[in-house]
Amino acid sequence: MTEGKRRGRKVITLYINENKKLGHINPEIYGHFSEHLGRCIYEGLYVGENSEIPNVNGMRTDVVEALKEMKVPVLRWPGGCFADEYHWKDGVGPKEKRKKMVNTNWGGVTEDNSFGTHEFFELCEQLGCKTYVNGNVGSGSVQEMSEWVEYMTLDGVSPMADWRRENGREKPWRVDYFGVGNENWGCGGNMTPDYYAQLYRRYQTYIRCYDRTAPIFKICGGANADDYEWTDTVLRECFRSPAPADAHGFMDGLSVHYYAGVEKGLHKGSATEFGEEAWFNTLSRAYGIEEVLMRHSAIMDHYDPEKKIGMMVDEWGCWHDVEPGTNPGFLYQQNTMRDALTAGVSLNIFNKHCDRIKMACIAQIVNVLQSVILTEGKKMLLTPTYHVFHMYKYHQDADLVESWLEGAGKTGVKETEMVPEVQESVSVDENGVLTVTLNNLCTEAEKEIELVLTKKKPAHVSARIVHGKMQAYNSFEEPERVTEEDFTDFRLTDRGLTFTIPACSVLMFRVEMEG
Ligand code: AHR
Repeated sequence: MTEGKRRGRKVITLYINENKKLGHINPEIYGHFSEHLGRCIYEGLYVGENSEIPNVNGMRTDVVEALKEMKVPVLRWPGGCFADEYHWKDGVGPKEKRKKMVNTNWGGVTEDNSFGTHEFFELCEQLGCKTYVNGNVGSGSVQEMSEWVEYMTLDGVSPMADWRRENGREKPWRVDYFGVGNENWGCGGNMTPDYYAQLYRRYQTYIRCYDRTAPIFKICGGANADDYEWTDTVLRECFRSPAPADAHGFMDGLSVHYYAGVEKGLHKGSATEFGEEAWFNTLSRAYGIEEVLMRHSAIMDHYDPEKKIGMMVDEWGCWHDVEPGTNPGFLYQQNTMRDALTAGVSLNIFNKHCDRIKMACIAQIVNVLQSVILTEGKKMLLTPTYHVFHMYKYHQDADLVESWLEGAGKTGVKETEMVPEVQESVSVDENGVLTVTLNNLCTEAEKEIELVLTKKKPAHVSARIVHGKMQAYNSFEEPERVTEEDFTDFRLTDRGLTFTIPACSVLMFRVEMEG
């Protein structure tokens, strides 16, 4: 009998089997996405060398420093829909000579190409993160894609490698991940799965790996949310390799995109003005990702039972209406505790499915959709979602351990949109320290929890929390309304810990264990 039941109160028990490791949490599950969309690249990440805003080689110092503190493992670029209209050659060489283009997907604004390949790698070098470049299948040629890879990664003598040197970069860069098109069922060419699958086979052939010590992980464009036919078709057509020994041959990963918003369609609902119904609607959609991922995973298991290829959730997050008065094509939205909980819930789900999920990139890193940072001129603020990523960073590169909750009920307004009151995931790092991340999705009810370890005892425990009212957010006038705080209101017991998790909160424990 748990301590709580002994005292006659309803207590939720969180059991942790600290000795049972269930898989490795690839750091890239905590990845990010940057697109030439609205103020993500320009103003958000890049202000140019001549800006009054402090920068290093054009990259905003305040933003880069905050992102480093949060730990960005991988950055995807240049899109999104933009990727299938992007012609990389327009974005290299002297800036004053770079071609300008119309960003037709996002507001029809002029793209001056001042942020291109060299700038992307400079940014990743400053962030210390891996690189994920997304190629153009929709409106680009095989040659164009193949030459981009040559430009970026060939150390020898060739027209593209020589051009890179002329443009100021002697050594090749490392392309960790390469995406062959984006949303090719939609903005990336409105293709059928069969047609894309044939194109994928062809395009990926010419993504040459010039340095065997630095393999490029090839990502096949995946489905929109619950389009299982897409997954089945591309795997059937592209998974097998002509050389059986090299079983995954044509692809190393398959992407999938999933957005949680209030409703599909044009009006998704305000990011900040909402009630309980919208809170639970969004969180139940956030939970919905688990079923979607499991069903895609089951199809992947059919073709790839050994789990050689990864599921790459390379776009996810909340999609709300844009902030009133802003360009509808810029997708600029505020970020409340509802977004924080969506992030907390989603990341726990990704952790729990780390056997198949190898990457997830929240959309998008700055000033677009569910951003971790917002900027306005010289000002910058950290959103509630930032703090969740910051607290969860200890899961990166750790091992998932078995955990489960007993006694947690469901909460919600509508029968069809009920969600668990509390949700968790637990990992152990290389030093044997546990990271426990817990979400309380209740809007008003705090929950008493007893954390029980299987064999060990906690020796030293620290905790951090993000909490606030459902609609709480950080504005440029009040940038620290929602922030991360120390949480000290817990008690060590023989078996673990007891504590009360406040309503509407994301809580993280670091537990050092005895022996
Ligand atoms: O993240 C915004 C857009 O959403 C991306 O460009 C596209 O891939 C998706 O539809």
